[in-house]
Amino acid sequence: MTRTIGLICGSLRENSYNRIIAQSLTDMVDSYQFRWIEINDLPLFNEDLEISGVPETVASFKSAIQDVDGIIIVSPEYNSGMPGVLKNALDWASRPRESAVLTQKPVGLIGATPGGMGTAFAQMQIRQVLEAMQVHVLPFQKMLISQVHKKIDSDRKVLTDDQTKRYLERYLQQFIHWIDYTPAID
Ligand code: FNR
Repeated sequence: MTRTIGLICGSLRENSYNRIIAQSLTDMVDSYQFRWIEINDLPLFNEDLEISGVPETVASFKSAIQDVDGIIIVSPEYNSGMPGVLKNALDWASRPRESAVLTQKPVGLIGATPGGMGTAFAQMQIRQVLEAMQVHVLPFQKMLISQVHKKIDSDRKVLTDDQTKRYLERYLQQFIHWIDYTPAID
């Protein structure tokens, strides 16, 4: 059976550079299929909702995470941290703690910015939050894309920079290799 990588974009912007980067991954390998996991319709996290009953959007978000073999988060950086919408989604995915759907799920991190630091601060923060949730984040590798506006054809919404494509392909192959050969820990 073909295995699946879920894609979460940390930007809700229609013409998001990060979404274009995430989309570019979907053409890079044949051995895996890709599925978007959307976070735009999740309510703001509120523990009271866990008592009164979580909305259907939360339930389907969690089951989408459960159904994939790994997840790649492609996110911008806001004010040297992760966007609030992404933190909100991760908080939902972290509950209930005993059966959190992201626990031990392999996750890769990619970020793109028109700026020069490639979302380094946001990625550090996302990694720290995921580690607190006992998520397996691809170790040692970083995929930081700076000056992204020069690497994309915004009209066609495609990545055009060959070097960035090669970096992304290598990152994706490392991620897949890691999923395929890392045994799950019970
Ligand atoms: C930004 N941006 C930004 N960029 C960066 O490299 N470091 C940062 O700390 C910030 N901070 C920041 C805060 C807020 C509130 C906004 C709206 C933007 C710029 C950001 O990288 C740029 O808007 C990207 O285009 C956002 O990614 P998408 O939506 O194109 O994927």
